[in-house]
Amino acid sequence: MTDLGQRLDAIERVRLASLPTPVVEAPRLAEHAGLARLMIKRDDMTGLAFGGNKARKLEYDLAGVVRQGCDLLVTVGGTQSNHAVMTAAAARRLGLGVKLVLGGPDFTRFDGNLLLDVVYGAEIRYLVDDDDNDSLAAAMADWVQELRAAGRRPFAVPLGGSTGAGALGYVRAARELAGQIGDGPVQIVTAVGSCGTFAGLNLGARLFLPRARVVGISVSRTAGEIAERTVELVRDSAQLLGLETPMSAADLECYDAYVGEYGVPNSAGQDAIRTAARLEGLLLDPVYTGKSMSGLLDLAHRRVLDPAVPTVFLHTGGLPIVFAFEDAIREQAVCTKIRR
Ligand SMILES: Cc1ncc(COP(=O)(O)O)c(C=O)c1O
Repeated sequence: MTDLGQRLDAIERVRLASLPTPVVEAPRLAEHAGLARLMIKRDDMTGLAFGGNKARKLEYDLAGVVRQGCDLLVTVGGTQSNHAVMTAAAARRLGLGVKLVLGGPDFTRFDGNLLLDVVYGAEIRYLVDDDDNDSLAAAMADWVQELRAAGRRPFAVPLGGSTGAGALGYVRAARELAGQIGDGPVQIVTAVGSCGTFAGLNLGARLFLPRARVVGISVSRTAGEIAERTVELVRDSAQLLGLETPMSAADLECYDAYVGEYGVPNSAGQDAIRTAARLEGLLLDPVYTGKSMSGLLDLAHRRVLDPAVPTVFLHTGGLPIVFAFEDAIREQAVCTKIRR
């Protein structure tokens, strides 16, 4: 264990996140869910563009980028991508330029993360009505070639920063969590998108939280796709630590019933946002953490989660997205305008 800790520490990373993030109790939400104890691991407080899980992954993805002489970062994502905005923030933190390939429905307003992309001075190429991962990757590859031909030295960060190296950020997070709550039985619930967080947590739990159950709630892919991708990422990440493939699809627990449609708010997610805000003062967003919390609440109510085992909800961030969804939220407003 100590040996593994040393191996983890020996892998190069660049400091971007404010760590450790706090763990806070959520007693009213626990009671609402029928759980004896619920804690929130506040990775929305990692810093970089208001925080989120990407900061931990980027610490490994960007290790060595400056040393290798790269002068700008290029990455991809959807219109409101947290990964893209946090990569833009990281680029500026490291003194680099930044270019983003984003895709999705046409837009008129620069709001939420898209507005922050502009504040960070990211040049954006926008694929209208096309957020297919392959199209985004192809557009990024073309741009990288153009930039190289023009004498620039770009570094391309893949979708979601989800690489074997990036997942090490969540191996580290598991060790950090063990230091905060001990290594007893625990159920850890997280949103799953491009799978790096889930992969890192599963590997990290195996190494540092051996009695943990890691529960993934998909916000985009099917459970089958997640299992396949996560196994690959765990393998790549484990190799960096000098370990054999330690996990198969059967070892992973992931639910895809709470997605609805990626990027589109659904009523269970909106309910979860309201509940967390009103019971705990805790902010969630409509695309990631609202939906993952709706999964946690449903699994707790149906006793798929064990009510007696302490539960940790990983708050993966993404809060600027709230400001891009006025339409989905304003209907809750209780507001009387008074003119005297
Ligand atoms: C706020 C938030 N939560 C969770 C996720 C999912 O993390 P991962 O892509 O590592 O699966 C993302 C990724 O886009 C995110 O932005």
